[in-house]
Amino acid sequence: MKNIWLDIELSDYENHMALPSVAQSQYLSQYFFKLLESFHPKTVAILGCSGGNGLERINSEEVEKIICVDINPNFLKEAKHRYNKRFKDIEYVCQDITSENFKISNVDLMYAGLIFEYVDIELAINIAARFINSKGVLGAVLQQPNEKIPEVTPSRYKSLEKLSKVFGFVPSAKFIELCNIHGLKLISQIETQLESSKKFTELIFQKF
Ligand SMILES: C[S@@+](CC[C@H](N)C(=O)[O-])C[C@H]1O[C@@H](n2cnc3c(N)ncnc32)[C@H](O)[C@@H]1O
Repeated sequence: MKNIWLDIELSDYENHMALPSVAQSQYLSQYFFKLLESFHPKTVAILGCSGGNGLERINSEEVEKIICVDINPNFLKEAKHRYNKRFKDIEYVCQDITSENFKISNVDLMYAGLIFEYVDIELAINIAARFINSKGVLGAVLQQPNEKIPEVTPSRYKSLEKLSKVFGFVPSAKFIELCNIHGLKLISQIETQLESSKKFTELIFQKF
């Protein structure tokens, strides 16, 4: 079955995420920066990188290799257009993170902000964990339910409404359990609420 993300226009997605009533682009990029500052990785992969949100936070003097992963080739094309000149070693991988064929080189930091809600988490964690270096880190942001607001905030970007069909909240406990099975040990768990009232769990795991 065709992945619904292939029907989404990057401009609709980015404009929606940047709306003051949503403000998730800013939040995700800021959180990625926190991870970079905390762990000083030499190699980084972003799963579900869209048009490259957060790449602007990477210090090209510190990070030696960046891998941008997304299922939508148009998103990656735009990320490449925006960032290719800024980094010496940046790779754009158009693959499904739940595919057994998924393969990237191992990294010190894998960042995944709001992608697990759209995939089979058992498959995704099993596969993603393979590509994190020993003592390397997985930073994941999971959206949490808030019964007062819908999972995809209504906005003038109507095309995004179809994402609700494939969106599924990921319970943190289940996520942590699956990570444990695949050698990822929880080192930090923080709950955050944005002004929009959307709630998120920020989880950091270390590979042992
Ligand atoms: C909610 S967006 C992620 C937000 C992004 N991290 C940001 O900061 O704006 C989810 C992203 O994951 C990608 N995606 C969804 N399912 C995927 C899959 N199975 N494999 C790889 N990428 C996928 C989508 O194309 C989309 O760019």
